[in-house]
Amino acid sequence: TAPLRIALAGLGTVGAGVIRLLEANGDIIAARAGRALQVVAVCARDRTKDRGIDLSPYAWEDDMTALAARDDVDAVVELVGGSDGPALALARNALNSGKQVVTANKAMIAHHGMELAALAEGKGVALKYEAAVAGGIPVIKGLGEGAAANRIDGIYGILNGTCNYILSQMESTGADFGDVLKDAQDLGYAEADPAFDIEGVDAAHKLAILAALAFGTQLDFAAVDISGITKIRAADIAQADALGYVIRLIGVADCEDKGGERFLFQRVQPYLVSKQHPLASVDGPTNAVVAECNFAGRLLFEGAGAGDGPTASAVVADLIDIARDRVAPPFSLPVSALQSAAPADPGHR
Ligand code: NAP
Ligand code: HSE
Repeated sequence: TAPLRIALAGLGTVGAGVIRLLEANGDIIAARAGRALQVVAVCARDRTKDRGIDLSPYAWEDDMTALAARDDVDAVVELVGGSDGPALALARNALNSGKQVVTANKAMIAHHGMELAALAEGKGVALKYEAAVAGGIPVIKGLGEGAAANRIDGIYGILNGTCNYILSQMESTGADFGDVLKDAQDLGYAEADPAFDIEGVDAAHKLAILAALAFGTQLDFAAVDISGITKIRAADIAQADALGYVIRLIGVADCEDKGGERFLFQRVQPYLVSKQHPLASVDGPTNAVVAECNFAGRLLFEGAGAGDGPTASAVVADLIDIARDRVAPPFSLPVSALQSAAPADPGHR
């Protein structure tokens, strides 16, 4: 069978991780995909940068528009980042050219997911974003496929590895917020602009995506009520500890039907979590997502939420799905079937 030919845009933490993973596990991946996954062309800003990977087997494209239009490419992987700008142009161009698209970009999906999903459906190609939520944890597949038979009544969890790393390091070592944030950046967990992490916006992007998938509603990032962790001090963590709690940044969403209307509640904020609760022991860059399902019961997804290896694992899993011709609607339902929901007033919850 012909290989799946891939163009890769972005060779930073995740992009370089994808190249390393394809090289290390090529045989396993080809066996499971039923054919080889072959990177044909790559693109980043700086061609001369040492990335610790051999790029000589791949064509270099300076221009992302040209990358999206290449005749020798079946699937485009977007690992550039940013909700708009070059990432969005690449995704639109690739879908319009009939290419399959894989992305780890939660900001882009949270803001433009409905438009891109409609474009993908119209062209009959895949738009896949497993890596956009909770890094290496297969939570998009878990909810969209594994739990597909259930009504999901609520979803909550730790959705940002950087914040969880900061909070758990402050807790265990008493280190300062700023020093731990710097470590999270050095370890490749943080966004290019870490304000997205610490102000709760990244977790809100992910929560909005999960809510759309879990409840079959249209994406509504603007309605997420967001507070980050920038005001948490070592003294707050010590006080919580004395009371039997830890502090975690948690995203919570549920959807209520009332008087024939649907109301979607979405909030990200620091919560006090009892030390007895499973989320209290989720440390470091780990994420955990809990889904309350009406037949499967409570599902808990836990694993590495950030970093090159786990995120690359999710990106390549999407490519394997594409190689197997698995092209489902990106939000499990066709965009036209996703219901609209009014935002629930967070002041009353
Ligand atoms: P990164 O290390 O900052 O890498 C971004 C890459 O995009 C770099 O290679 C950069 O080129 C390239 N790039 C940026 N602007 C460009 C432009 N205008 N034209 C061409 N190339 C451009 O970011 P990352 O951590 O890999 O994240 C990539 C995406 O994955 C983001 O959407 C992020 O939110 C998402 N994500 C990241 C993680 C994680 O743990 N890091 C986890 C899940 C999802 P240069 O290298 O030449 O500067
Ligand atoms: N900056 C993100 C985080 C990367 O820390 O969770 C994974 O999406």
